[in-house]
Amino acid sequence: MCGIVGYIGPKNVVPILIGGLKRLEYRGYDSAGVAVLDRGELRTRRAAGKIAMLEAALGADPVVGHIGIGHTRWATHGPPTDRNAHPHLSTDGTIAVVHNGIIENYGTLKTQLAAKGHRFSSDTDTEVLACLIQECYEGSLEDAVVAALRLVEGTYGIAVVSSREPQKIVGARQGSPLLVGVSDGQYFLASDASAILAHTRDVVYLSEGEIAVLTSGGYRLMDIDAAPVRRSVETIAWDLEAIERGGYDHFMLKEIFEQPTTVANTLRGRLRLEEGTSKLGGLNLSHEQLMEIDQVIITACGTSWHSGLIGELMIEDMARIPVEVEYASEFRYRNPIVTDRTLCIVISQSGETADTLAAMREAKRRGARTLGLVNVVGSTIAREDDGGIYLHAGPEIGVASTKAFSSQVVALTLLALKLGRKRNLSVARGREIAQALDALPAQIQTILDAAPAIEAIAAAYQDATNFLYLGRGYNFPAALEGALKLKEISYIHAEGYPAAEMKHGPIALIDEKMPVVFLAPHDAVFDKIVSNIQEVRARGGRTIVITSRDEPVLAGLMDHEIRIPETVDLLSPVLASIPLQLLAYYIAVKRGANVDQPRNLAKSVTVE
Ligand code: F6R
Repeated sequence: MCGIVGYIGPKNVVPILIGGLKRLEYRGYDSAGVAVLDRGELRTRRAAGKIAMLEAALGADPVVGHIGIGHTRWATHGPPTDRNAHPHLSTDGTIAVVHNGIIENYGTLKTQLAAKGHRFSSDTDTEVLACLIQECYEGSLEDAVVAALRLVEGTYGIAVVSSREPQKIVGARQGSPLLVGVSDGQYFLASDASAILAHTRDVVYLSEGEIAVLTSGGYRLMDIDAAPVRRSVETIAWDLEAIERGGYDHFMLKEIFEQPTTVANTLRGRLRLEEGTSKLGGLNLSHEQLMEIDQVIITACGTSWHSGLIGELMIEDMARIPVEVEYASEFRYRNPIVTDRTLCIVISQSGETADTLAAMREAKRRGARTLGLVNVVGSTIAREDDGGIYLHAGPEIGVASTKAFSSQVVALTLLALKLGRKRNLSVARGREIAQALDALPAQIQTILDAAPAIEAIAAAYQDATNFLYLGRGYNFPAALEGALKLKEISYIHAEGYPAAEMKHGPIALIDEKMPVVFLAPHDAVFDKIVSNIQEVRARGGRTIVITSRDEPVLAGLMDHEIRIPETVDLLSPVLASIPLQLLAYYIAVKRGANVDQPRNLAKSVTVE
């Protein structure tokens, strides 16, 4: 959500902070700021709006220095104004803090601090933390941070600098990621590796409850009891090119077009075509443990939850194990039935989503084995799960998830294949599915090659105010995903339904102004969905139909047809979702929306 970057080293800190904040802007973009130690003095510059506004503020009133921290904000406490932008200063102006997360007991702390004479100039919980650190300061910044954090309830990733110790940055994490970047004589602090990738690929991830102290001579980690922590340096696998737009107008478009490659990467080395199964190295489950599983719970949020719905159908079909799919935010607060024979599959692109992480911890606490389907290597879910399948889709920067979705469905297919082949899925059926997976990258490419035709359809509907997306079977979750893509980036109201459910209410909405997108590949429920298309046509609705072959029965029923290649039923939602991503993208662009930074949203929802 929010982003943190810090630097200590020989270079001028301001361009490094600004460069890092621009890389983090996809995580939160309502305001930004920096605090720089300028000849021992703490100077802050903050601005509401995009990083460009902060650059303007720095242009008008420059600061220089070799140590500093920066932040890009996604508002929780208080509206996105200059005065609520981070960094926040303590009352005496000696301590500056940037913070991701939420201090839950900030109200009580604020009252106590006010009684001691502290004055607050923002609505934020972060300013309270800055004052608390000032209050705890007795000569050592890291000790003051530790003492203050002991009084805090909530989640945080923080970076702190002080004019009292102008050669130091202190960072801490609890529920919000933080890492140290290491390069020759320079040290970085960041909430996300992309912020510092231009300078180093060598990073040290902080674990929950850990503190980092950076000076110009090095860095050290410790736990909340001040015991030293040793952690090896890891090298990030991707480079700068992976987080750049590479000639595309938007990250979202780049990521849609990357899917032939990213799906191939998810599959790489994992398919066993002859045996009709998959090889998944990171499951950490013995044959016996796999055979013992008698229930699967899939938990996730948003797009990842949609891929989970497809996973449910696949696992039940191939492996005959009962599956429940739960919104992580609901699962964590109810009393679910979980045993030590439950496999909890946790799906998350970022690996940091607060609700999903909490749901995973709850499932673990109740005895389930947890399996993370995660894209971001080294993320919290990936570090805390019992086993996992990395998606290998590369960094997803566009706020609307696209390539992660296709990779999630592919990873779930690999898992269902493995579970199925261990039980009663025949080798012949296993081979058919494995071959269909193998063919997917090239099939996705053929859909992308037809993007101009989808752009033309988008032009016809850019002024629509409502959309319905209807699908059945494996394509019902894809309908939900298509509707989510459209609403989040174009702000057009869109709903996804199982096609036959339309008769039970939504059909009242159908008139000549209502575009209805049907997901109707030639699968087991094709004949059924044709009746639903007829029902919409009979009421004057406009139809955009995704099909996979010449279907005489559809003649006269389609205002627009989008063709996708044929595949096995269970993989058709991967192919059907590609034109839906393009449709949403082109409609949003034609409406003038900022698709990479849609209003109110942020990548990676690290608050509850
Ligand atoms: C929608 C979208 C969100 C995420 C959701 C979960 O395009 O991106 O709905 O899917 O916030 O995020 P992860 O997968 O990172 O846990």
